[in-house]
Amino acid sequence: MNRVVVLKGDITTLAVDAIVNAANAALCGGGGVDGAIHDAAGPDLLVECRTLGGCKPGYAKITAGYRLPAKYVIHAVGPVWDGGHNNEDELLASCYRESLRLARQHDVRSIAFPAISCGAYRFPLPRAAKIAVETIHDELTSFETLERVVLVAFDDTIERAFRRALQALTRPAAR
Ligand code: APR
Repeated sequence: MNRVVVLKGDITTLAVDAIVNAANAALCGGGGVDGAIHDAAGPDLLVECRTLGGCKPGYAKITAGYRLPAKYVIHAVGPVWDGGHNNEDELLASCYRESLRLARQHDVRSIAFPAISCGAYRFPLPRAAKIAVETIHDELTSFETLERVVLVAFDDTIERAFRRALQALTRPAAR
């Protein structure tokens, strides 16, 4: 897990091979990180997104990064939190897995994730952070060429949640 780092900041500024977008099923832009990515990438991103036919929750699709420093944008559609009764945990884990699957297909060496579903989609943050780090950890074992995974926190609360989840994974509490 020493390939995974937490960084506080704006994902659109990162010079990594791919950034992940917390998109909606229509893939037509929106608010939050989705809006920030479309603003920074420029209008050609939306033009490409419109050719993709949308995307189901738990899945992801890839586009170019256009004016972003990142070469690719991987648009992952997270679940809307519904009390935990609608397979939200598995759908969120699937977003991370599918994003990494696309990253591998495109020979991505560095990737940055936001806290998918933790804004407008209201997924509880500590629970989402745990799913994110555990899923990434599992996938990294068979993805040797991926050098760097950046968990991007937009504020202090998210940063704390990612750091705690990482610590719990690397240093499980003694029984
Ligand atoms: N960089 C990094 N993280 C960001 C940025 C940014 N520039 N802007 C927002 N975030 C963080 C938020 O603080 C939140 O923790 O991204 C996380 C995800 O929040 P949302 O962007 O609201 O995404 P989500 O909860 O998955 O909801 C998706 O919101 O506008 C839309 O089109 C999008 O309908 C979709 C929905």
